This record gives sequence, structure tokens and C-alpha cells, in this order.
Amino acid sequence: MTTKSQAVLNWIDERFPLTSTWKAHLSEYYAPKNFNFWYFFGSLALMVLVIQIVTGIFLVMHYKPDASLNASGVPVAFASVEYIMREVPGGWLIRYLHSTGASAFFIVVYLHMFRGLLYGSYRKPRELIWIFGTLIFLALMAEAFMGYLLPWGQMSYWGAQVIVNLFSAIPIIGPDLSLVIRGDFVIGDATLNRFFSFHVIAVPLVLIGLVLAHIVALHEVGSNNPDGVEIKKKKDATGKPLDGIPFHPYYTVKDIVGVVVFLFFFSAVVFFMPEGGGYFLEYNNFIPADPLKTPPHIAPVWYFTPFYSILRAVTYPLFGLDAKFWGVVAMGASVVIIAFLPWLDRSPVKSIRYKGPIFKIALAIFLVCFFILGYLGVLAPTPGRTLVSQICSVLYFAFFLLMPWYSKLDPCKPEPERVNFK
Ligand code: HEM
Repeated sequence: MTTKSQAVLNWIDERFPLTSTWKAHLSEYYAPKNFNFWYFFGSLALMVLVIQIVTGIFLVMHYKPDASLNASGVPVAFASVEYIMREVPGGWLIRYLHSTGASAFFIVVYLHMFRGLLYGSYRKPRELIWIFGTLIFLALMAEAFMGYLLPWGQMSYWGAQVIVNLFSAIPIIGPDLSLVIRGDFVIGDATLNRFFSFHVIAVPLVLIGLVLAHIVALHEVGSNNPDGVEIKKKKDATGKPLDGIPFHPYYTVKDIVGVVVFLFFFSAVVFFMPEGGGYFLEYNNFIPADPLKTPPHIAPVWYFTPFYSILRAVTYPLFGLDAKFWGVVAMGASVVIIAFLPWLDRSPVKSIRYKGPIFKIALAIFLVCFFILGYLGVLAPTPGRTLVSQICSVLYFAFFLLMPWYSKLDPCKPEPERVNFK
């Protein structure tokens, strides 16, 4: 560094912890040397968050949260999205980046969470990282749900109608609660305005705060790795972990590989199939919202369907409360239970590499059930499909609730002292 730039840096460092932050979180943050591709998804989630915020800022410049009809009889909100698509220079690109980004966010986050399951990243001392992660997941679902109302298409309208009505199943407070959420007796202009406000400012602020907490907690305890070995236990004479390498430049450069591969697939969708076969943008949402015309089949976007299936799987009333209420409870529980994983897993080892066959089979069954539930959630229910979703829902919960028992029984291999790296 030249003496001039060093002087500028010194000037800043005397007033702001720039160099020390850079060192603590990048150039002298030691990460395990055996990260594999599963470790790309955290930084990819960060990148998608940035894409959503930046494209969101540009969309808000032209979007209008207004449910009233314009001179052509089209809702203003719907027409403003069409205006972005057809008239605003580059508007189509910004909108498709944002709509594809929503699905990409869930793909990346689901893979990121699955990595946690594979390598036991939720185990001590990373419980808080995991809890912040589960809260991020909940906030992300709220963000996506409210964003989906904004284009004011048929699916936006009727999807919101179905989900907000669910809240009315809660005893005593339910009907008032759904009224507060809607701001009206039906989904309408008031709902659109409050969802807009939550989608563009309230929930993103919460998300950013949670992501910061997630990363601060991670840097406090250090990363796990595919072997589940704590690298901080074995340090050299200078106090550096023997199996650690500085995050920068090693992983900043490695993550670029992940970014390039991700952008290849992301751009392919944005430029060649932005509707994602009707999964990323549903066909019914190209029709303006019509409160007088219910679509024959209402399905949520693909990333909600596993949980939606669990909701629909509950068909029996219990303790004088109707099935809808228990469906809502089951759906809520299916997300919240994820947060308890650190205390449900009693295996002596963290990583699947050293776990025994019982955990591997349980994880495989869980994964298959999750996919089946996701698939069934897109389809209209039939008695046969409901039965399958009931079986899969039971297995979904069994994976978590029986874990304290089967994770102890599982014959595990001994964890190595040092990480394996060739
Ligand atoms: C906006 C969403 C999220 C962002 C931006 C994000 C970001 C990150 C980053 C950058 C890392 C470090 C790199 C890596 O290990 O891949 C990380 C680690 C981690 N994340 Fe997330 N994350 C998100 C959501 C979640 C969710 C939903 C969960 C779980 C419920 C989760 C659980 C974890 C865990 C357990 C680790 C530590 C992994 C290890 O050390 O092996 N994250 N996250």
C-alpha cells in the first residue's frame, strides 16, 4: 500500500473499526479447510437477498398498490405491473429477476437448511445460528406470501383469501384477527396497502436484522464442516486452528464459482422460462383479480405446498374444534418444530458421514415425504391423495419427534480428530 492510501486507512481506522472488522470477519476469520459445494448456499442466499432488495427498489418506482379500477376496468395494481412489463425500459427484466428471485431464494434456502441436516450444523454450539435461521425462514415465508398479493391477479387474490381465512379458525380471537389482517371483511384495497407496506419495509428490515444476527452468531462460534469436527479444538502455537484457512481469499474466491454456476441457471430461467412452467409465476395470475369469480383450483406457489399439504391432511375435528383449526396448528407446528432440532438430535456425532444407517434411512424417508407433500399440495385433493398426504405428514413429524430415540440407538462411526481433506 502506498504511504498516501495507508494514511487514509489510518485516518479511517482511528475513527471506525475498518481494518479490524475486515480481519475479524474475512482475512483472519478461519474457516474449516474442507468445505464442499453445500457451503455455497449461505453466500448464495445473501446474494439473492441483495438481488431482491435492489430489484424491489426499482419495482416500487413504478408499482401502485391500488385495487380500484382504471378507465379500462382493470385494477390499477395489476395494470401497473403490466406497465412495468411493457412500457418501463428494462422493466420486464427487473420484474422477472424479482419473481424468479423469490423461487430461487427458497431453492437456495431449502438446500442451505438441508446441508444443516446433513452435517448436524444445528448442534451445540450452533443452536442460536439455527434458531435465527428458522426465524429467517418464517420471515421469508411471510415476505413471499405478502409479495404475492401485490400483482393483484386471480391467484394473488384467492390465495390470500384462503390463507387469511385460515386465521379465523383460531378460537375466540380468530375472526377479529383475520379482520385485522385484511383491514376489511374481504380481501380489498386496505389489504393490498398493508401487505405492500409490510412487504417493502417491515419484513425486509426484520429479515436483514435476522441475517446479521445469524452471521454474527456464526462468527462467534465458527463454522461447522462436512466432518462435524470442531476446528477450534486443535490450534497451532500462534492460536490459529490447524484445520482452518482464512475466509478471504480462499472462500471468497471459491464462492465466486458457486455464484457463476447459480447465475447460469438463474439467467436461464429469467431469459428463457420466467414462468417456470407455471410454478414460479402461476398462469391464473395473468388474469386480473376478480372477487366475483373463484378459480376452480387454488394452489399456493410451490415453496409453500409441503406445508399446505400438511394443513389439508388434517380432516378430523378434535376436542370440539374443527379440522381447519387443527390443520392450521399442524401447519404451524411443521415449521416451528424445525427450531427444536438441536435438542432432538442425541447422536454422539454431528455429520451424516459418521452417523449410522438409522439416521440415513430416517433422513431419506423425510426427504421423500417432503417432496410428495410438495407435489400433492399443487394438486386438487382427492380421497386417495388426502390419505397419502396424511401418511407423509405423520412420517414428517415422526422424523423429528422420534429423533431423540432413534438418534441414540443408531450405531455411529467414531468422529475423526482432524478434518478429512485431500
Ligand atoms: C436469508 C436467508 C439466509 C441467509 C442469507 C443465510 C446466510 C448464511 C451464511 C452466509 C452462512 C455461512 C456460510 C455457510 O455456512 O453456508 C450461514 C450458515 C448457516 N446457516 Fe444460514 N442463512 C439463511 C437462512 C438459514 C436458514 C433458514 C437456516 C436454518 C433454519 C440456516 C442455518 C444455518 C446454519 C446452521 C449455518 C452454519 C452452518 C455450518 O457452520 O455448517 N440459515 N448462513
